[in-house]
Amino acid sequence: ARKAALGPLVGAVDQGTSSTRFLVFNSRTAELLSHHQVEIKQEFPREGWVEQDPKEILQSVYECIEKTCEKLRELNIDISNIKAIGVSNQRETTVVWDKLTGEPLYNAVAAPVSPDPSAPVAVVPSGSSVPAAGASSVWLDLRTQSTVENLSKRIPGNNFVKSKTGLPLSTYFSAVKLRWILDNVRKVQKAVEENRALFGTIDSWLIWSLTGGAKGGVHCTDVTNASRTMLFNIHSLEWDKELCDFFEIPMAILPSVRSSSEIYGLMKISHSLKAGALEGVPISGCLGDQSAALVGQMCFQDGQAKNTYGTGCFLLCNTGHKCVFSEHGLLTTVAYKLGRDKPVYYALEGSVAIAGAVIRWLRDNLGIISTSEEIEKLAKEVGTSYGCYFVPAFSGLYAPYWEPSARGIICGLTQFTNKCHIAFAALEAVCFQTREILDAMNRDCGIPLSHLQVDGGMTSNKILMQLQADILYIPVVKPSMPETTALGAAMAAGAAEGVGVWSLDPEDLSAVTMERFEPQINAEESEIRYSTWKKAVMKSMGWATT
Ligand code: G3P
Repeated sequence: ARKAALGPLVGAVDQGTSSTRFLVFNSRTAELLSHHQVEIKQEFPREGWVEQDPKEILQSVYECIEKTCEKLRELNIDISNIKAIGVSNQRETTVVWDKLTGEPLYNAVAAPVSPDPSAPVAVVPSGSSVPAAGASSVWLDLRTQSTVENLSKRIPGNNFVKSKTGLPLSTYFSAVKLRWILDNVRKVQKAVEENRALFGTIDSWLIWSLTGGAKGGVHCTDVTNASRTMLFNIHSLEWDKELCDFFEIPMAILPSVRSSSEIYGLMKISHSLKAGALEGVPISGCLGDQSAALVGQMCFQDGQAKNTYGTGCFLLCNTGHKCVFSEHGLLTTVAYKLGRDKPVYYALEGSVAIAGAVIRWLRDNLGIISTSEEIEKLAKEVGTSYGCYFVPAFSGLYAPYWEPSARGIICGLTQFTNKCHIAFAALEAVCFQTREILDAMNRDCGIPLSHLQVDGGMTSNKILMQLQADILYIPVVKPSMPETTALGAAMAAGAAEGVGVWSLDPEDLSAVTMERFEPQINAEESEIRYSTWKKAVMKSMGWATT
């Protein structure tokens, strides 16, 4: 009976900082039919460094595809109905690999780092017994702080980077991570000289690998991912020669930039896993995860916004065809371009570095919970932080402060404080940070948001959602199907020219039900808590010096 109701299917890879997923949707109803998820390791070889292994990431994609296909078979769903695949990914994370061997070139820095951060890093040959780590520099990584300081001394004008890219000069974006790799990894320098090196964000690494890798893989990215590199001109939609000269990035290693919805190549997996079942399926959608969520939430109109709670928290507001430059610490970024001949849409973005990551930290570093879900139980036991405030500025503070010197603090502790209060304060921190970026967004846009559309893993936490409504003092609205990031990538893939199995008409998602959380405290209490939070934020500033 299910088979009869099925339309063509579309798969989506959702590669995030914490996990990889592969999900398959029915293009007719947007129903999620099956999925599989694998958690991804993060290495912290030094204070401020965050790394991941691109090979582990790729392997996790194969594994998720394989397991999802198995689950579909168990449901008697024919895998040959999968007509397209979309990719959405953690943005900014930087990979350099060898186009002849397919091997990442920056490999395993966990053990042999030099004590002097400015000295070259000893690179362990791949296949060595040193634990493989650190093959890509993750978006949260702070090692480029001195690179940023040096660059800012020779910037040819205050607005040079921002006016072209919409971004502040920060450790967050790929150009400085790539600069660091080029400066510090001899293997990469050599590969660049020998014309063997390719650079990419995770989308490029995955698409290149999934379309054949060293045997003809397609080296491309989409406009949304390119707009997070600090090398991309968001007006001309091309790599910017002046920016590449400024950051001294050889343009030959950059991927070609495509729209977010077009056929990039066909799946060609030289791999023994059953992921090969999707051989020949077009990869036809690609969006950075936050753009994908904007599409998945159907925020196609000027002024529509969504907030996604993942490792970090990202509030994006569609500004239509206009590049709006923020006066309050928000980024201007490419929202999407759904087709080669389709117009580009822009967004204002409020980026918070640490949201879900604070729960992972409570689990992995403090051990006060053993699964992320337990946080809700602990917070519920007390229902208040009892005056405890937790500013998780582990990687400095992003929007609206852009303060790399900030570090995490927990304050307001008394002898009465216990782990439940700290758990509650961690959840509140996510909500306060969202309030800060929403306030900035309202000031930049002029028309305050009347409600907030939310998605992402943390939105299954009902206490968090209620707290968010209380602290924002507007309703919070969440779709019953929380996988909007993957849905957005699937929609882009299914709608691509030459695939054409998904229409992007908002009516098609009218069946998606919504859950609504209304503010339940009084406005005065909400304001008092928020202003105490701001006091705590001020205390976190200036903690780290370079
Ligand atoms: O900009 C970073 C963002 O794309 C990472 O997303 O999934 O790790 O929260 P996520």
